[in-house]
Amino acid sequence: MPEKIYSPILDPSAETAFAVSSDITPEALAQESKSGTRRFYIESYGCQMNFSDSEIVASVLTQQGFQPCTGYQDADVVFINTCAIRENAEQKVRNRLKEFHTLKKSKPGVLIGLLGCMAERLKEQLLEQEKLVDIVVGPDAYRDLPRLVSEAESGLKAVNVLLSREETYADVNPVRLNSNGVSAFITIMRGCDNMCSFCVVPFTRGRERSRNPESIIQEASMVFKQGYREVTLLGQNVDSYLWSPHYASKKEILKSLSRSHTDSTVNFAQLLEMVAQIDPQLRVRFSTSNPRDMTDEVLHTIARYDNICKSIHLPVQSGSSAILKKMNRGHDREWYLERIRTIRRILPDCGITTDIICGFCSETEEDHQATLSLMEEVRYDWAFMFHYSERPGTLAARKYKDDVPLEEKKRRLSEVIALQQRHSLESNQKDVGKVFQVLIEGVSKKSDKHLFGRNSQNKVVVFDAGHYKPGDYVQVKITGCTPATLLGEPV
Ligand code: 5AD
Ligand code: SF4
Repeated sequence: MPEKIYSPILDPSAETAFAVSSDITPEALAQESKSGTRRFYIESYGCQMNFSDSEIVASVLTQQGFQPCTGYQDADVVFINTCAIRENAEQKVRNRLKEFHTLKKSKPGVLIGLLGCMAERLKEQLLEQEKLVDIVVGPDAYRDLPRLVSEAESGLKAVNVLLSREETYADVNPVRLNSNGVSAFITIMRGCDNMCSFCVVPFTRGRERSRNPESIIQEASMVFKQGYREVTLLGQNVDSYLWSPHYASKKEILKSLSRSHTDSTVNFAQLLEMVAQIDPQLRVRFSTSNPRDMTDEVLHTIARYDNICKSIHLPVQSGSSAILKKMNRGHDREWYLERIRTIRRILPDCGITTDIICGFCSETEEDHQATLSLMEEVRYDWAFMFHYSERPGTLAARKYKDDVPLEEKKRRLSEVIALQQRHSLESNQKDVGKVFQVLIEGVSKKSDKHLFGRNSQNKVVVFDAGHYKPGDYVQVKITGCTPATLLGEPV
């Protein structure tokens, strides 16, 4: 049984890698090599935020004259953008780093750089003890990369893992990597202040800060002009987005709001509306929502705009109030179910997906059954399911015993996955006979006679290619399904 099911669009934590791809020809590469241009390669792991960060890294480097390349063997600097959310994510990166390291034998000058969340967590260990990398850069220090590369070239240890309270890379124009030319990801905030007890993100990505809305609108308008037809607004907790021209920290913004009524702040609902107004042909998605912060104002905004997709990723983590309390989620089961009822009332056709962790500290069989019964009540369209993996330094690692045996965690996870598979299939079966507007993203992996895209609810729809092309909107009548895909015919 796979630990989880992978979807590159929604999955906030996919332990899957993608490498840089660009349109450079071998001739151009040879020319660059002769002219001494330094070439970089980036491989990204983890959540969509990391993939988006790699596009910022590519932008910072190309601004300084570096060129991207498609194979790590061709690169002068090999970067790996890493995820620390679960232990197996880190293990995959370690194995890959060992592979990269062998390149040093045939190409002694090549530099290896560790980016992202593992850089924050394991700086000394990977640089000094294991000597696997030459450069270590945390998520808030990417502007410093060109200097760090030069430092490493001159044989110095190149490290910058400082976390910032202000950095949002608002002015950096991302170089779209591995893009389908149809959907672009735009980071609207960084960090997280929530301190869920199992989660390493607040430690690796630092304090929450929101990006200037003007720069977000500019970026979204620009990608629309370039032909993109969908933007996904990204943040660890988008509902908490709050921007003020005067303060970077959310705490200070809230304090200033309580002092004065002259309000120049922008919240998430307002930002969503601003992006939706760019053009009715531009679809807007967002991820990830948090049950304790998701407001009715956001739901009403989604309802008002046809081009804001009817799809909400609302992680629940557990169906047991006792476990939710230990997880420090800031809400209980009833609160969560009330949010679900409100979504269904305001947005009756909304797709709802979630994240679930099995076997958190002290989770009993009864707690596990509560998760299964919550799933029965909500009937998610899709879920990302994990077993608990203790992360050093987190509240849970310090306070609670990781006392559910691995075998038991896996058994509970397999029950959760089996139930979700049933629900996903049932949800898709209900769509058979309906007609959806689909934004086409590309050619189906299984057959070049078929295209695929997504409906507003974020379900993948596969249909006959006909004369359509990526970037087109098409009405598709659903004629069949699997648990993961809708199959249909253009009408
Ligand atoms: N163990 C297992 N799953 C985790 N997640 C976050 N931290 C852990 C952990 N320590 C999951 C949560 C979160 C998703 C991004 O990853 O479900 O929503
Ligand atoms: Fe981690 Fe919780 Fe923040 Fe999500 S909301 S990144 S799970 S601390």
